[in-house]
Amino acid sequence: MSGATTAECRTPLILREPQDEREGAQGVLLHSNAQMFQCSIALARRRPRYHMRSITTAKEPPMDREEAWHILCEFTQTEPLRKHARAVEAAMRAYARRYGGDEEQWACVGLLHDFDFEMHPNPEEHPAKGAAILRGRGVPEDIVYAVLCHADYLGLDRKTPMDRAIYAVDELASFIIAVALVRPSKSIHEVDVAAVRKKMKDKGFARAVNRDDILKGAEQLGVALDEHIAFVIEALKPAAADLGIAGTA
Ligand SMILES: [Fe+2]
Repeated sequence: MSGATTAECRTPLILREPQDEREGAQGVLLHSNAQMFQCSIALARRRPRYHMRSITTAKEPPMDREEAWHILCEFTQTEPLRKHARAVEAAMRAYARRYGGDEEQWACVGLLHDFDFEMHPNPEEHPAKGAAILRGRGVPEDIVYAVLCHADYLGLDRKTPMDRAIYAVDELASFIIAVALVRPSKSIHEVDVAAVRKKMKDKGFARAVNRDDILKGAEQLGVALDEHIAFVIEALKPAAADLGIAGTA
């Protein structure tokens, strides 16, 4: 590629290299001069999606699923955790459609919410340190914030439907899959709300799933628990084969 075109360079953001993770991949706005302009072109060549934005349209560009998947796979080697990410992605996509959200952005939140868990398995680090990595990659702040919002212990204010949805579907998606897998058929198509409710009362079943998170998630989302459970069951069905819950029959 021969570099930025004249049209792309109109009123560029003039950037210097970010000095640390806090500054993120967006760099720092500096005075417009030829030297710094060259710097912005160099940055744009490395991260073309983020560095040639006009001052008048300095809105963060959206993220696409491929980019989120690439980051997930870079930091997550185990298939179960990748599968969990895809399950949460499916639920987030369904709620994005319901609430009129940007489905691709909501999907990215689902894919990325645990991307650093293998590296940072402790609440002291996950997902706060992961968020710093995402910012360093230029991931839009609304996605980073929603990723942080899935961790209840951070005590963040869930400001948007996307923030509330990621918290509401994270534990529940895993729980519903666990319910499907103990069916003789291992099929999501044989899971209903009553089965999920019954297993929620069984303290010995899927103990790692925090029932309070499921209850609080539905409440904050403003959806009755049964409706929420039914919604996520339906959301997972199209992805059943990929998630290993399509049934063995
Ligand atoms: Fe998760």
